[in-house]
Amino acid sequence: MATSNKDHWSAEKYQNAAGFVPKLTSTVVSYLDVQPTDRVLDIGCGDGPLTAQIAAAASSGQVLGLDASPSFIQSAQKNHASKNCTFKLQDCTKLQDCPEAVDGSWDKVFSNAALHWILRNPETRVGVFENAHKALKKGGRLIFEQGGAGNVAEVHAAFTAALIHAGLSVQQAREACPWFFPGPDWMTKTLTDIGFEVEKCELEYRPTKCNPDNADGSGGVMGWLRLMGAKFLEAVEEGKREAVLREVSDIVESIVTREEDGSKWLGYTRLRAVARKK
Ligand SMILES: C[S@@+](CC[C@H](N)C(=O)[O-])C[C@H]1O[C@@H](n2cnc3c(N)ncnc32)[C@H](O)[C@@H]1O
Repeated sequence: MATSNKDHWSAEKYQNAAGFVPKLTSTVVSYLDVQPTDRVLDIGCGDGPLTAQIAAAASSGQVLGLDASPSFIQSAQKNHASKNCTFKLQDCTKLQDCPEAVDGSWDKVFSNAALHWILRNPETRVGVFENAHKALKKGGRLIFEQGGAGNVAEVHAAFTAALIHAGLSVQQAREACPWFFPGPDWMTKTLTDIGFEVEKCELEYRPTKCNPDNADGSGGVMGWLRLMGAKFLEAVEEGKREAVLREVSDIVESIVTREEDGSKWLGYTRLRAVARKK
């Protein structure tokens, strides 16, 4: 199924719906172990606060953030660019088109919460890691966290069911999923085959608390679904999208709400890896 290139992201929507994403990063950032002279390439950098945090630690190094969202790159350039922190609009399924990325000059290639989107297309999937390998110096490291096997399974199941109820075939509903959530076996084999030595590859079930609901509907479970599920919704005609969203939200809220205090926790599963270019 063809998906559009429409830019669904904006810094404001992201902050309201999932501002916790660039903040819940202490483990992957500890694995990144930024050194003052590091040259770090951040793949799928979003609107840039985490990239800027890395650049502050790489004070005499260089950090380049790449992202395919024009809106996010504009915000990042406005709010987080500095002498050693730059941003560039780049589809990271085509890193070979960005000579400064794949020049073998980077100490570290980093990515947080972006690869499950970038790896969506099976045809370009392995190439993303081949290009990350090319980007690195010999001995350099790829360090990342992404959604792993079973990530937000309740959301995935609810969207699939709602799309089928809206008239799609099972196959069409499956193809509407914008994510690829691999497990450690797939990841370890893929990275090893390319020429990495995999130092860590771990899967963690990490339920994650949603932002509170807010008046304009951009927070809470609904805000999360509207932003992160935008690509699922593109699979149905515009007039049906609000009804699909309402159905998904009703199902997901039934599953994720905690009785004791009404807080809502999505079933995040994180895949983290550290791999060294031999
Ligand atoms: C959940 S955000 C994570 C952003 C940031 N790394 C963070 O930690 O906040 C996912 C990001 O992946 C980016 N993305 C998705 N597909 C991409 C692609 N093909 N190339 C580059 N970036 C992509 C999106 O634009 C978005 O900024």
